[in-house]
Amino acid sequence: VNMNSGGKPRVYVTRRIPKEGLDLLSKECEVSIWDSDDAVPQDVLLKNVPGISGLYCLLSDRIDGAVMDAAGPSLKAISTLSVGYDHINLDECRKRGIRIGYTPGILTDATAELTVGLLLTTSRRLAEGVTNVKNGGWGTWKPMWLTGPGLLNSTVGLVGLGRIGMAIAQRLKPFGVKRFLYSGNSKKAEADSLPAEFVPFETLVKESGFVVVSCSLNAQTKGLFNKKVFEMMSSNAIFVNISRGAVVNQDDLHEALTTGQIRGAGLDVTTPEPLPTDHPLLKLDNCVVFPHIGSASEETRIAMSILTTRNLLAGLMGEEMPEEVQL
Ligand code: NDP
Ligand code: DGY
Repeated sequence: VNMNSGGKPRVYVTRRIPKEGLDLLSKECEVSIWDSDDAVPQDVLLKNVPGISGLYCLLSDRIDGAVMDAAGPSLKAISTLSVGYDHINLDECRKRGIRIGYTPGILTDATAELTVGLLLTTSRRLAEGVTNVKNGGWGTWKPMWLTGPGLLNSTVGLVGLGRIGMAIAQRLKPFGVKRFLYSGNSKKAEADSLPAEFVPFETLVKESGFVVVSCSLNAQTKGLFNKKVFEMMSSNAIFVNISRGAVVNQDDLHEALTTGQIRGAGLDVTTPEPLPTDHPLLKLDNCVVFPHIGSASEETRIAMSILTTRNLLAGLMGEEMPEEVQL
């Protein structure tokens, strides 16, 4: 571990983070920080990492072999303030023996809660309603105005019944969902408590009135939702994605939403982020876009900042991390 003259390991933090996580880190380490709410430019990142022992990063950073090369052999641990780690090149970490910390579990409830909000905002057309109240579009009470599909007696398909997928299903169940389906690589024992049926991906997209994407982004799920898949879905289906934007081909989604292949889409994640304000998806009434706020409850973000620090400190000390990615 590369120490400063005071015997503390050197770490780099790529963004302004909650005080709780930063204070804890600063006690044990010599901290350099990109003290801004904007992402650190890649060239600035590369200039700041040489000789560091630990890197505290965010999901919007690209942590590739070039960053690890720039840091050099002193880099022992990378800790990300997220449960998703698709922004870190795992092969490059493996090659160099760099350990990775992440934040599973503590953000599950906040993210599932937001997903329910996003689903209802999309299906029950909440954003359209608020807009119409403000712009004078609210005329007299009309029986079929701003109606959408209800959850009662519906089929909900979860693409990825992991920690967050399971928590979403548990929250949706009391709405009177009739069937839960899920797809993935393996059957989950905890699915029996819903119950949820493990089905092939194709069955899920064909039979679900609500398709909720809660998987991780990986080689299998990249671009999974394309034209062919949207064509298989019901014209009444509501599509919700809280995973990563890259799971969806957005041009194909736009086509599905404008040609009536599906009814509506709610996205908490997009490509790129932020989505440009002139993006075609933002022109559609049947597309709701949130700015990646799944885990954004105050307590959760503070807990994430602390867990990210604890992971990094353990990695620097050569101890077991509280939450470590198995490489
Ligand atoms: P988990 O690892 O618990 O769950 C991920 C699930 O993805 C697993 O159950 C896995 O199933 C599944 N999966 C992997 N490949 C496929 C596939 N090809 N088809 C279907 N399912 C698949 O992670 P979490 O639930 O904690 O988090 C999930 C993801 O949610 C994160 O990776 C992140 O990208 C995103 N996220 C987004 C947030 C937001 O703010 N919008 C907040 C937090 C997380 P199997 O075991 O069968 O492979
Ligand atoms: C994650 O943790 O992966 C989310 O996208 C943000 O909390």
